[in-house]
Amino acid sequence: MNYRHAFHAGNFADVFKHAILARILVYLGQKDAAFRVIDTHAGEGFYDLSDARAEKTAEWRGGIGRLLEAAPPPQIAALLAPYLAAVAPLCRGTPPLYAGSPALALKLTRPQDRMVFCDAHPQVIAALRGHREFARDRRVKLVEIDGYRALNAFIPPRERRGLVVIDPPFESKTEFDDLKAALTLAVPKWPTGTYLIWFPVKDAAAVAGFRAGLVRALPDLGVKNALDLRLAVAAVQPDAPLAASGLIILNPPHTLAVEAQQILPYLAKTMAIMGQGDAEVAWLVRH
Ligand SMILES: C[S@@+](CC[C@H](N)C(=O)[O-])C[C@H]1O[C@@H](n2cnc3c(N)ncnc32)[C@H](O)[C@@H]1O
Repeated sequence: MNYRHAFHAGNFADVFKHAILARILVYLGQKDAAFRVIDTHAGEGFYDLSDARAEKTAEWRGGIGRLLEAAPPPQIAALLAPYLAAVAPLCRGTPPLYAGSPALALKLTRPQDRMVFCDAHPQVIAALRGHREFARDRRVKLVEIDGYRALNAFIPPRERRGLVVIDPPFESKTEFDDLKAALTLAVPKWPTGTYLIWFPVKDAAAVAGFRAGLVRALPDLGVKNALDLRLAVAAVQPDAPLAASGLIILNPPHTLAVEAQQILPYLAKTMAIMGQGDAEVAWLVRH
């Protein structure tokens, strides 16, 4: 467990993941009934962009840094507004901070909603506990636990609606298989939940195998709709730094495909390296 997100916070993959995460939370917040967020690989919550780890890679400059300098057309600005309202003031603060998935969830939920933030790394959970925002919020539970065990432990929640965020570090060669096995157990226990799954697009065969396995498995898990999103900021090359990532969303809000079709090409263009950005919005399975 060597992965530390502080090196990558606010990079193009975070912007992509968090812009979509924000749209899902906005959708869930449109009905009065409470919803639950379960974040299996939550990370530290806030990342200091002036710290040596963030400065070493400077990845955030090509991600949230670019987005904050850009002026999106009004329709896209409206779709990105909840995400940017949550992250921009912190990014422009002293020290500049990037809000990770738990911090974003905190901002985009209501008094009746509940959140469970899990991470297997003791220092990461200690960092989360060290932030008053999380420690003092009675809606929040912070748990040091393996993310896939957390799926088993916290699903189903008592709420009918909600979001599971699965954002593993992909340090293990079996991560795609472990992820699919965990989903196979969890989804039938909470078939009404939305599941947001992030993955790197580096090994084309592994990604294709993961997608194909899900297409075969999802009908038996009771999932009729799954969105398949990809965002690239450069051509994918073996052994080069991460240039593309994917999100699969099981049971997405019915509004999300159209929103992603507007947001993602803009993000790809804004964060592209040497003009090579590219985005795809497709259905993995569709009713
Ligand atoms: C990509 S980061 C999470 C970033 C966060 N979701 C966000 O969007 O701000 C992955 C996290 O997984 C944690 N991690 C590593 N192995 C884990 C495991 N087996 N179970 C749960 N968390 C794990 C790492 O400590 C790291 O904080």
